[in-house]
Amino acid sequence: MGLAYAGRVLKLGVNIDHVATVREARYRGDAHGEPDPVAAALLCEAAGCHGITVHLREDRRHIQDHDVFRLRESIRTRLNLEMANAPEIVGIALKLKPEIVCLVPERRQELTTEGGLDAVRHLKALAVTRRKMNDAGIEVSLFIAPDPNQVEASAEIGAQFIELHTGQYAEHFHRKRARNTELRRLVDAATLAHRAGLSVNAGHGLNYENLSVLHLVPHLVELNIGHSIVSRAITVGLPKAVKEMLALMKNYRG
Ligand code: PXP
Repeated sequence: MGLAYAGRVLKLGVNIDHVATVREARYRGDAHGEPDPVAAALLCEAAGCHGITVHLREDRRHIQDHDVFRLRESIRTRLNLEMANAPEIVGIALKLKPEIVCLVPERRQELTTEGGLDAVRHLKALAVTRRKMNDAGIEVSLFIAPDPNQVEASAEIGAQFIELHTGQYAEHFHRKRARNTELRRLVDAATLAHRAGLSVNAGHGLNYENLSVLHLVPHLVELNIGHSIVSRAITVGLPKAVKEMLALMKNYRG
């Protein structure tokens, strides 16, 4: 503890895709319907989150085009657009101008074995999109498994951020040995990324239970959390669900 940590706040980006999932279950194809992801985003912001994350999927399973443009006009924090590296979505992102895009895999052949983007295999195509986004003033993050080859490829691509895929960590959380293996991989990947000049985010499968152990991973800037917050909101309400998560993140020491 001490001054070395002053000012280092672990940020929370709330992923509101699941709010749209509930709406689409009833109102698919309509330009209206409840619950409204934009109203949810504003509640999350009022509760203190640092950014709003949405994934505009090619199949438009949850978030729709009108959602992202309304979010852009409404929110006061940062908009993080998760997206596939697909021409149609790249075009939308360049019009939308979120603060940051996070490139994610949507098709099987884009995946590494752990479920992250295969930055090694798609290095050239990702570098082209990275440049287009940066030229438009949009930062770029790559959602990758905690694998040194993927970290190195992300640095070579010139991304500003990586988002470490915490899905395996979350999945193995209750099996101590496997959890510790995943934790070690996250620690090593974050350390390597930081040395390579990349900023480090993390996300997928994080919840109120597995968050405290994740504090052992150094150099984290932001966590993107969706399912657990939206789920908890059903019983305690969105503002309380967000505040509880922020309270758990407060003791992070980098
Ligand atoms: N980060 C990325 C890149 C994701 O694709 C997702 C899931 O949409 C999340 C974070 C949030 O994951 P969860 O809903 O499990 O918290």
